[in-house]
Amino acid sequence: MNTQDNSDVVEMRSISKGFNGVSVLKDVDFQVRKGEVHALAGGNGAGKSTLMKILQGVYHADAGDILISGKPVAINSIQDAKAAGIGMVFQEFSLVPSLTVAQNIFLAAEPLGRGLLIDDRTAVRKSRELFAEMEVDVDPRAEVSRLGTAYWQLTEIAKALSQNARVLIMDEPTASLARHESEALFELIDRLKKRGISIIYISHRMDEVYRLADRITILRDGRRLLTEPLTNVTPEQIVEGIVGKKIEGQLAYRARDHIIHDGAPLLEVRGLTAGRRVRDVSFTLRPGEILGLAGLMGSGRTELARALFGIDRVDDGEILIRGKKSSLASPQQAIDAGIALVPEDRRAQGLVLDHSVRENLLLPLLGKIRRGPLLDQGAGKELSSSLISKFAVKVAHPNRPVRLLSGGNQQKVVIAKWLGNDPDILILDEPTAGVDIGTKSEILDMIRDLASAGKAVIVISSEYPELLAVSDRVLVLKDGSVLRDIPRSEIADEEYLQLAVQGV
Ligand SMILES: Nc1ncnc2c1ncn2[C@@H]1O[C@H](COP(=O)(O)OP(=O)(O)OP(=O)(O)O)[C@@H](O)[C@H]1O
Ligand SMILES: [Mg+2]
Repeated sequence: MNTQDNSDVVEMRSISKGFNGVSVLKDVDFQVRKGEVHALAGGNGAGKSTLMKILQGVYHADAGDILISGKPVAINSIQDAKAAGIGMVFQEFSLVPSLTVAQNIFLAAEPLGRGLLIDDRTAVRKSRELFAEMEVDVDPRAEVSRLGTAYWQLTEIAKALSQNARVLIMDEPTASLARHESEALFELIDRLKKRGISIIYISHRMDEVYRLADRITILRDGRRLLTEPLTNVTPEQIVEGIVGKKIEGQLAYRARDHIIHDGAPLLEVRGLTAGRRVRDVSFTLRPGEILGLAGLMGSGRTELARALFGIDRVDDGEILIRGKKSSLASPQQAIDAGIALVPEDRRAQGLVLDHSVRENLLLPLLGKIRRGPLLDQGAGKELSSSLISKFAVKVAHPNRPVRLLSGGNQQKVVIAKWLGNDPDILILDEPTAGVDIGTKSEILDMIRDLASAGKAVIVISSEYPELLAVSDRVLVLKDGSVLRDIPRSEIADEEYLQLAVQGV
């Protein structure tokens, strides 16, 4: 059954929006039909999240109209948006961790005011019905804090459905999901669509867009470039539309002969054990080498990175840097030893959101711009400006707080910040998560260039094509231990790696 018809549930007309005089959306038209998955694509900072925040009542447009099922509506608050049937699956979840799933779903849905709160038993029963309709298995009585992100997301979706949402906005929903969880989400989206629910799907991942979407709208620099059925556009056209130029061969592995095979290893890890997630891990890394870390969620990749960077305590084993035994008991010691870590959870670990872009960039670099007891302001300005342009960070002024940057541009700031310190050993945990296709290919090139310049790089990525594009060797982890250590030349394709990760 296909419930998709040509009537627009949402129509945004000539939407314009600026912040402090800087125009972010210019005259954007955007329509969503009943029962369609509509992909919203565009480079970092193109205005996707801002457009959706307007639909959701968080921001108010400077100009333009919103029609819901053909009728003009004023959306001045999140309540207005909900009443109009717009639901949002937040990237940063809006749940109360100490409450149960059922309490979270029905918490905000209290139209009757105090004293008439829905009782727990009814909430649990209604939640069960919702999850049954969604065909997913979630225990409504479980406390949210005890559940993984995938369940938070399902709870958010159930909450929106309980409020009769007809349109669900999903802004990079798979960013914090494991592979099999993403697949479960896609199947749920298919089922919701069959029930006539419309989904606005924001993602930087082309495979997801092709898997899910009926139509795509591309924003570039705050303007709508096109809206087309997916069947009318090729992936190349989409990439070119987003980036504004052609990109070729970003995911092809190029053998590099820069690895100094007989040179002394830069990093040697022997029998490293840390907590329960890193067990007896050994490997060596030579100058010029890129080592990929593959494994399922929970295989210990991030924990290994944390132990190497002195965040988690090492219980057993040795770390040698340039042949010398090193104690990395804190991140400062790791930094002093020439190691840098670009963490996975960048917002929480990598940035001080209320500080300016410049302050964030210079944080690890203070040693470089210190002149006696004072900081050399001029050198600081120069250094931060050069990093901003090198990494194409889209920001009106280096003094703006990082909080105001788009998601992808915040990621770039973290990467730029750590590279500015010129480390010898670089650990990048999911370096391209959330960045647009153009930036992604730039980051991959940058990783190759760093290695070619004699650095040693460790890359953690859940995207196999990306891992295969840069790694000279892949270390497969499972339950915290090294399952295999495979040279790139022995990995025929993505499927080979996938099987290796599954341990078959
Ligand atoms: N509250 C705000 N104040 C000032 N500028 C803002 C604010 N919110 C967003 N911007 C700016 O608006 C532009 C568009 O941001 P938006 O978050 O909509 O981009 P996006 O398309 O979602 O990008 P990404 O793919 O990186 O998430 C950016 O340049 C951003 O810095
Ligand atoms: Mg965004």
